[in-house]
Amino acid sequence: MVAGNWKMHGDLQRSLTLAREVARGVPEGVEAVIFPPFVYLQPVIGALDGARVSVGAQDIHSEREGAFTGAVSAAMVKDIGASHVIVGHSERRAIFGESDEMVAAKFELALSVTLTPIVCVGETLDERESGNARSVVLRQLERVLARVGAEGLEAGMIAYEPVWAIGTGQSASAEQAEEMHAIIREAVARHDTAAAGRIRVLYGGSVKADNAPALFSEPDIDGALVGGASLKAEEFLEICRAAGR
Ligand code: PGA
Repeated sequence: MVAGNWKMHGDLQRSLTLAREVARGVPEGVEAVIFPPFVYLQPVIGALDGARVSVGAQDIHSEREGAFTGAVSAAMVKDIGASHVIVGHSERRAIFGESDEMVAAKFELALSVTLTPIVCVGETLDERESGNARSVVLRQLERVLARVGAEGLEAGMIAYEPVWAIGTGQSASAEQAEEMHAIIREAVARHDTAAAGRIRVLYGGSVKADNAPALFSEPDIDGALVGGASLKAEEFLEICRAAGR
């Protein structure tokens, strides 16, 4: 499973071109999902009609509907044909002040409209250096588990994204990532062993074509959430090919 988070980049033409290039090259057996900005979701979905690439939203609001100027609901995203949504990306948490509780509410709302949510968890550099990485990640995860249970969590996915690795070019090593992925899986197993075995845990944070093979060789890393490298079709496809090997 390889997810491409385009963030706030591109324009309509570039979005359509990138989506088509990705759709042409995704290898058999690899699930690819792209996350264009909200306004390009519908044109991209239209352009990919029938292609083996799914399209998701980068965020949704934590309330079902209401007077929330500028916000987009889970039901709206579902309505236009998107299949996935990212919740709790560290940029949403840090820049837009989203709490663990809001992120858990978004996850639950996504499930309620049968969108597949991907919840991002991860520690900052300070938190890692002060020895709190594990407790931060588990706190973020437990809030979602408390709300939807292991069964609900398993209907979505988890992305471990150490904040210090996002957009910095400094990926976690495969060993560092695997260590946290195993901790995450153990935490789910405390609720439900079978769900822990099945749930997909993606790694995100400076995934590129050259470090993807090592990350994917780890037993608890089931895919990647890719930011910068998802804006270049060939590099994103190389990551997809690594996932398929
Ligand atoms: P990056 O972003 O690959 O550019 O580090 C990852 C993410 O923010 O999901």
